[in-house]
Amino acid sequence: MEQTLIIFKPDAVKRGIVGELLTRFEKVGLKIVGTKMLVADPQMLADHYPDSLVPIVGNKTKADWDSYGIEYSETAEQIGQMIVDSTRDFMRSGPVVAVVLQGGHAVEVVRKMVGSTGPKDSAPGTIRGDYAHLSLGQASLKKKGAANLIHASGTADEAEKEIAMWFKKSELFDYETVHEQFTRA
Ligand code: CDP
Ligand code: MG
Repeated sequence: MEQTLIIFKPDAVKRGIVGELLTRFEKVGLKIVGTKMLVADPQMLADHYPDSLVPIVGNKTKADWDSYGIEYSETAEQIGQMIVDSTRDFMRSGPVVAVVLQGGHAVEVVRKMVGSTGPKDSAPGTIRGDYAHLSLGQASLKKKGAANLIHASGTADEAEKEIAMWFKKSELFDYETVHEQFTRA
């Protein structure tokens, strides 16, 4: 059994689709073991989206901008810093709903259901592909954090760290679902 963290970002909350999206995870038998609504504080978001993301997102976005053939003078580091800052700001632009889901291969299954980072690149059937068509390159040209609806932990390690960041142990619950009666060996 594995646990993973999802966060419905302010765009999902403001669009009023949190219930609709959460239902998708319940339907595949993932168990909700914790949930809360909050406006995250800056320190939490600096931990959640750490400075180590700067070169990674900077280089990805630079590649997007190069493919558009546009001119810009910023370095990958400057672009990355702008994206990380605007993503942290976006995550504080309204309340978010954080949920811990539990199930077999939860991290992998949830990432598949969420889609790629950019909604434009996400397959139909995924949350980001079904509910948005935004491109990361275009969002970053407007110096905006991408409104891609939902965060999901990328690896089991990331999930463990993120769950500890967002939830106290006493806020997570253990109970048996009907699904477990059918999936247990
Ligand atoms: O969320 P995911 O794990 O798919 O992507 P990430 O590479 O860990 O990036 C974290 C978040 O930064 C994304 O979900 C976007 O909200 C934001 N981001 C962005 O706005 N523009 C980019 N070029 C890359 C990331
Ligand atoms: Mg990530």
